[in-house]
Amino acid sequence: MFKGKNIVVGVTGSIAAYKSAELVSLLKKKEARVYCVMTQAAREFITPLTLRTLSQNPVFTGMFDEPRLWKVEHVGLADSADLVMVVPATANIIGKLCHGIADDLLTTVIMAAKAPVLLAPAMNVNMYMNPIVIENIKKLKEFGYHFVEPEEGELACGYQGKGRLADLETILERAEELLVKERPLCGKKVLVTAGPTREPLDPVRFLTNHSTGKMGYAIARQGRLLGADVTLVSGPSALRPFSGVKLIKVETAQEMKDAVISEYENSDIIIKAAAVGDFRPKTRSVEKIKKQSAGGLCLELENNPDILAELGQRKGSRILVGFAAETTGVIKNAAEKIAKKNLDFIVANDITKPGAGFAGDTNQVTLIFADGREKKLPLMEKDSVAREILEEATRILKERECMLN
Ligand code: PMT
Repeated sequence: MFKGKNIVVGVTGSIAAYKSAELVSLLKKKEARVYCVMTQAAREFITPLTLRTLSQNPVFTGMFDEPRLWKVEHVGLADSADLVMVVPATANIIGKLCHGIADDLLTTVIMAAKAPVLLAPAMNVNMYMNPIVIENIKKLKEFGYHFVEPEEGELACGYQGKGRLADLETILERAEELLVKERPLCGKKVLVTAGPTREPLDPVRFLTNHSTGKMGYAIARQGRLLGADVTLVSGPSALRPFSGVKLIKVETAQEMKDAVISEYENSDIIIKAAAVGDFRPKTRSVEKIKKQSAGGLCLELENNPDILAELGQRKGSRILVGFAAETTGVIKNAAEKIAKKNLDFIVANDITKPGAGFAGDTNQVTLIFADGREKKLPLMEKDSVAREILEEATRILKERECMLN
């Protein structure tokens, strides 16, 4: 979403200004074009050289300090920006914007900008709780300015409370949302499953698989960016869901089934990326199973519920998308699941292929549709695979809605 976009990063005079360096670096990694505008106070905390080096663009520090630039910059930057971010945003900049004061380059750029403006406040907790600041933020929100709330915690000034700059990943997620122009899934509920399940054997051991959740979390993130109301049912995973995604954490296949069924009724699109364990130990020992002196241990397994099959039996007009993790006969095995589980399409991945399947940031999949059509995708980032899946699901949903209306 950031690639090729013009992002103006305003930096103001808070101790959190040092974090703007990392933010610029992260934006560059996402192939954005970054133009930094610093207030005079910001230069007390971080140098223009740092930001110029990281952004690989001139850093603008004052309306009047470089005549050859000033007459066009504030308009040029404002006109070319796809997004204006103020990270960190002090009480001062918030107050100036709220009262229409444009006495330096940053406030002037923001006033002239047509692009969305996202502010990430950072200040002492007592300032942030000051009724004037609260009123100013409220007023700016009414004017359509966007905010990423500060976090609670230990503040640089030694206080405890709400005032610490939000996590940069959270700020970037909000920024990404503001860059999305079209939201075809606005008003739609998307239910995604992700990650492995864990089937306990005893208090120490469990059966699981290699799924990390990356594929499903990417689908949840992209669904959110496309405007959907997303619920993510996740097995154990180290990942953090995209802001605004409703997360339901589960462990066993049975728990995943219960969570999915409870969300299924009012879901429009269901995408089952989770690697659900097909089996569980027939008996779960309450004590740790001791090593046998000889002869090893024989485990008896029983079937877990087939969640996808059950959803298929009462699909209604929902869009139901399954995955198939195969090692041989990928297309044939995947295609068999479509009719058997009443799917609209299935995402088949050969988990033995380099760069595909579990744990990596990429996947190589073939989408197989109920009408037999196949869409073979090249190896790509899981976020891109997620967008492909959601675009197809949206297409089918729109077609179905047209037929029903
Ligand atoms: O999470 P990552 O590390 O990113 O890895 C991604 C992935 C490899 C897990 C993902 O791309 C993938 O292939 N997910 C499906 C894995 C899987 O369980 O495939 P399967 O062929 O065993 O199951 C087929 C479908 O039935 C899946 O949609 C699965 O969610 C569903 N299922 C399976 C078993 C079961 N008891 N209930 C189910 O609903």
